[in-house]
Amino acid sequence: MEHPARQRASHDPLFTIAEHAFGVGIDPAERARWAALLGSGTTFYAERDGIEAGSLGVLPASQSVPGGLLVDADLVTWVATLPTHRRQGVMTELVGRVASERWSGDGRPGVAALWASEARIYRRFGFGPATTIRPLRIAPDRLRDDAGLARAAEAAGPLAFSFVQPAQISAEARPIHEAAVVARPAGIRRTPAFWDRWCSVGEFVGGSAAPRSIVAARRPDGALAGWIDYRREVPADDPLAEEGSTCRVMEVAAASPAVAAALWRFVVGLDLVEVAYTPWSLAPDDPLLRVVDDHRALAATAPETWDGLWVRLCDPARVLATRGWQGSGSMVLELDDPMGYASGTWQLEIRDGRAVVEATTAAPDLSLRLDDAAALVFADAPLRELVAASRAAVRSDGVI
Ligand SMILES: CC(C)(COP(=O)(O)OP(=O)(O)OC[C@H]1O[C@@H](n2cnc3c(N)ncnc32)[C@H](O)[C@@H]1OP(=O)(O)O)[C@@H](O)C(=O)NCCC(=O)NCCS
Repeated sequence: MEHPARQRASHDPLFTIAEHAFGVGIDPAERARWAALLGSGTTFYAERDGIEAGSLGVLPASQSVPGGLLVDADLVTWVATLPTHRRQGVMTELVGRVASERWSGDGRPGVAALWASEARIYRRFGFGPATTIRPLRIAPDRLRDDAGLARAAEAAGPLAFSFVQPAQISAEARPIHEAAVVARPAGIRRTPAFWDRWCSVGEFVGGSAAPRSIVAARRPDGALAGWIDYRREVPADDPLAEEGSTCRVMEVAAASPAVAAALWRFVVGLDLVEVAYTPWSLAPDDPLLRVVDDHRALAATAPETWDGLWVRLCDPARVLATRGWQGSGSMVLELDDPMGYASGTWQLEIRDGRAVVEATTAAPDLSLRLDDAAALVFADAPLRELVAASRAAVRSDGVI
């Protein structure tokens, strides 16, 4: 190969490429935190003109599928090409190398997953939007006395709130987080390296200098019931400015929806906060949206919903056999992978909520591209919608 991709021990070239490509600064502390996380995985580089012109990182983790089980997952991050070398096939080379080294043959993960900066980049590599998020812009003053929120929060029973350092609660937090991960498809189970990062201060690239606040909710017996992770942001030049006095809610994790409601009630009760944002964390069917009486106080930011994780089914047969199903039936499914590795035709025999999946040469009842299969597997996108959008071909009656 003329410009071989290769792996390196140091991650500094990756951060430099990413700074130029994303237009963000990654300070030394943040580099150190990311280096520790990237060290749990593999970093790939592509060279052009004697320099590293593109890079990406792959972090092994696991991801939940419908039905509450997990499959192993390669999380892809920091995909970036130097602006001087864009549109010269650098990313194509990198993803191609990851696919041939990690996403083919024995030992491949069930899935690969990433957040896409743009919707037009990843379908060519077999990734499709698998989940949807609903970023919210919350008006706290309208929810301080909200009867629905109060009722749901009180259902949690007595809770004591306290500011904590993440490391203080991380051991107790894990089982709560893991239960939440399997309760919703496409959740990411944090590896020890991810928990180490969660424990480190800071965490989000391009974030504000405002301190990270974690508030733990404990039951009267002292057991952790949940926590909220947020950042207050006040414009540095005018701390009393009304506009921009915000609270960015990064994570609400709770043992029950009632505890989550109690944590949200804590947030809307914060003094001097004009607006609260949820950049990542809410699904379109999050209980909060039904809990509050004044649901218009939870205005969606534009656009109303947004694609969340993009998933590539690296081992479709294993993922289809791991996820849960409703009802019974059989089907021959054909998947077409633009990268080739995951193409195939499988017979699915679904009984008692599980599928037995075997390769077959029988004629398919249903054909679709691998990127579209991600929504079908993780989000239960109605098949008839995919057919209507010319994204799936039904070849036998009765499949829909
Ligand atoms: C996105 C990015 C990694 C693409 O890298 P690249 O090396 O220029 O990509 P390639 O040259 O391999 O392009 C492969 C194909 O994808 C297309 N493509 C790449 N980026 C695209 C984009 N942002 N929008 C639409 N198409 C894009 C190219 O046109 C090309 O298509 P073609 O083969 O039909 O001509 C690079 O533009 C970048 O670093 N952007 C800023 C950071 C970023 O958004 N990273 C992705 C994070 S999820």
